[in-house]
Amino acid sequence: MSNLTFGIIKPDAVKKGVQGSIIQRILNNGFKIRGMKLIHQTRKQAEGFYEVHRGKPFYDELTEFMSSGPCVVLALEKENAVPEWRKLMGATNPAEADEGTLRKEFASSIGENAVHGSDSDENAAIEIAYFFSKLELV
Ligand code: CMP
Repeated sequence: MSNLTFGIIKPDAVKKGVQGSIIQRILNNGFKIRGMKLIHQTRKQAEGFYEVHRGKPFYDELTEFMSSGPCVVLALEKENAVPEWRKLMGATNPAEADEGTLRKEFASSIGENAVHGSDSDENAAIEIAYFFSKLELV
């Protein structure tokens, strides 16, 4: 199990101005931030990031939304980082997210669900490398 994962504070959360609250919750839950930056993805960058979902009914909506405004990309460190970050985020659909999770508190729908997290160590490494150079990881 790796100690690194990748996260995004999505455009809906940045638009609402809750990115600071989410970062505080990340720190309070024992994660170290190894990389962080505010970016505004192009449609092509968002399509590349979500390539695995190409062809699914929500792909166009998802990539349009993810390129609709600024988001915060994060490289996070903690023991068992992937499942720990997924636990803090809560279920993809906020209607199914547990109390105390970020999506329960900050997400409004399955599409605009405030945060993203890697689903495996392998994808965490791929996703970190998609947005960060080695020099940007502290
Ligand atoms: P995320 O963790 O970023 O990974 C893929 C995203 O696709 C997911 O969060 C949701 O925001 C989105 N997604 C997944 N399923 C659906 C769906 N049925 N309808 C709309 N968006 C979805």
